[in-house]
Amino acid sequence: MIYTFFNNKFVPSDEARINVRNNSFNYGTAIFEGIRAYWNKEHKQMYILKMEDHYRRLMQGSRFLNFDLAYSLEDYCRITLELIKKNNHKEDVYIRPLVYYTPDKISPKFVGYEAGFTLYTVPMGDYIDVSKGIKVCVSTWRRISENMAPARFKLCGIYVNSALAKTEALERGLDEAIMLNSDGHVAEGSAENIFIIRDRELITPSVADDILEGITRKALIGICREELGYKVIERKIDRTELHICDEVFLCGTGAQVSPVIEVDGKKVGDGSVGPITQKIQKLYFGIVKGENEKYREWLTPVY
Ligand SMILES: Cc1ncc(COP(=O)(O)O)c(C=O)c1O
Repeated sequence: MIYTFFNNKFVPSDEARINVRNNSFNYGTAIFEGIRAYWNKEHKQMYILKMEDHYRRLMQGSRFLNFDLAYSLEDYCRITLELIKKNNHKEDVYIRPLVYYTPDKISPKFVGYEAGFTLYTVPMGDYIDVSKGIKVCVSTWRRISENMAPARFKLCGIYVNSALAKTEALERGLDEAIMLNSDGHVAEGSAENIFIIRDRELITPSVADDILEGITRKALIGICREELGYKVIERKIDRTELHICDEVFLCGTGAQVSPVIEVDGKKVGDGSVGPITQKIQKLYFGIVKGENEKYREWLTPVY
């Protein structure tokens, strides 16, 4: 039996249902997180990656959107641990918390409605193939801009923007789309932040460039500087830089560290997975799987 946390209790997943008239279902007035937990066979342990950071971002967004919820950071973490134990997962899983409006009400607004919290888990391997490199396009869809809706939070409604870009890429036979922001600079992938590498320096758009403030992005900036000794710059990226740089990779909880080998039909570098990206991948996967003692504080053991 797989359980979901719903209406303040654990219920069999089939019973976690909302009405078609639900306000958040109708208007996307909800906010979510995506958290990964990695199963380490040797340790017989499940490690949840950066759990508190994800719930902090959820709580920040919830406050901004007036979701009035009684759960504390400790409550969210406790419920998450309990759910994974209850579901007895012994494989990599994706954890999806969602804060939404419970009433069945017609009118899109972020005020005067009661909020609810639900949490479910799904087994998940690689969201994107991380080994051989992916082919992407620059999407004709622009990333939603700050003065339309905040891209920095995982607000459900704005994922229409991601879905349009991803669909365009898939329909062109590609793996992913990179969106430009409204001023024409590189923003991010449909569900990933982006780094380019030029002359051994890593460059990524700043948090004021209409990107989701990615937890993986921040973590990678830290380890690339401190552990690997690279210079990392946060600045605007022109689209032509995607073609003249040496390496490109996407990153995120789902995407992990995903090398890009082609943009709009043009090879990135020599068209193979670059050496710096490989180095970063190796370090990242060691940390998230619990094989690197130094970074154990990124992880919360479940069992
Ligand atoms: C639009 C978007 N950008 C970036 C990311 C990466 O964020 P994080 O590293 O916090 O998972 C995500 C994650 O799902 C996303 O949806």
